[in-house]
Amino acid sequence: MTVCEYRAGLEGIPATQSSISFVDGQRGVLEYRGIGIEELAAKGNFLETAYLLIWGDLPTKEELELFEYEITYHRRLKYRIRDMMKCFPESGHPMDALQACAAALGLFYSRRALDDPTYIREAVVRLLAKIPTMVAAFQLMRKGNDPVQPRDDLGYAANFLYMLNEREPDPFPAHIFDVCLMLHAEHTINASTFSALVTASTLTDPYAVVASAVGTLAGPLHGGANEEVIVMLEEIGTVENVRPWLEKQLAQKGKIMGFGHRVYKVKDPRATILQQLAEQLFEKYGRDEYYDVAVELERAVEDNLGHKGIYPNVDFYSGLVYRKLGIPSDLFTPVFAISRTAGWLAHWKEQLNENRIFRPTQIYTGLHEATYVPIEHR
Ligand code: SDX
Repeated sequence: MTVCEYRAGLEGIPATQSSISFVDGQRGVLEYRGIGIEELAAKGNFLETAYLLIWGDLPTKEELELFEYEITYHRRLKYRIRDMMKCFPESGHPMDALQACAAALGLFYSRRALDDPTYIREAVVRLLAKIPTMVAAFQLMRKGNDPVQPRDDLGYAANFLYMLNEREPDPFPAHIFDVCLMLHAEHTINASTFSALVTASTLTDPYAVVASAVGTLAGPLHGGANEEVIVMLEEIGTVENVRPWLEKQLAQKGKIMGFGHRVYKVKDPRATILQQLAEQLFEKYGRDEYYDVAVELERAVEDNLGHKGIYPNVDFYSGLVYRKLGIPSDLFTPVFAISRTAGWLAHWKEQLNENRIFRPTQIYTGLHEATYVPIEHR
């Protein structure tokens, strides 16, 4: 066995073999099962994309109709999950609420028949179907309202916006949101997917796998960045303040949220599409006050950090789209989780095909043969 050198954050170290997605960070390429993200975003929809990622091929018309029916049928939450959510503090972060609810699902479906394709499909359907309902329910309940039941006559994206805003969205914003879900669904072995893999490799249940991944995605260096971007743009305030603000940030060695990536050293192709989606929404519903600030910040960061390969990532423009869709900023990362559940489940299923528990090694830097000093002598 060749022993690899230690790389902080496992940078550049393959942790698995996978055929689910491919990223070329130098050329800004992202493919789901070999299909370019641009083509999927232009021609597909989220549930079709989730099916492609999880089962490996685009579904036939019949397969997609059955999958959509199953997802629609399983959208409702057990009343005990809703009752549990009533005990959550309103001030709690929605990602913590989502992680608790995802784990709690396992209490109802804990049979770990991981060699049973029916069990696998049921888990996939339940998680994809119920996570949007959980996110929307927490939003209404933390405002002191009863959650609304999902509507079977609405598609996946439209139903989430309906449950969140208590009104049926226009088809155009619902379509824009569906494209956002496609863009965030999968991205090779990012931190939260790696958490999912490690958890899956112990053969625990898929609800624990997704709960583990949700907790990882919440961090501001990962999925939590989209919420931080809005805080940053609000702090900058005006186009005129962009470059003075950036100069100060860089002098303090601060990270610019929504920029940089372990793999992309050019603009994230998803950021390009999300920027186009933002502009389409602004054209129809009015510009976001911070869009010009964002565009100027992109220019300024390129001037100062482009030589280091630091460009916008998926989190930079997504928040501006979500704001225009009426999604509160602390729900941006839960929305990311709704989408990335597809990728996590695809990797969970792939890991089970040829599983070996993850157990890396370490380079020990501690003491040897140390002695125990009694407390009175410490
Ligand atoms: C996501 O992995 C995925 O695929 C993730 C994701 C997905 O779809 O799952 O794409 C989603 O998580 C996107 C990333 C969202 N996070 C942020 O926007 C937070 C800000 N970004 C940085 O924290 C950073 O770019 C990371 C965490 C994304 C990547 O970190 P790396 O690869 O460990 O890079 P690094 O921190 O070692 O930085 C390398 C250099 C450093 O400079 P030097 O010390 O070498 O001089 O680049 C600098 C860093 O200071 N740098 C930045 C920067 N990102 C890197 N400097 C300022 N602002 C930044 N955003």
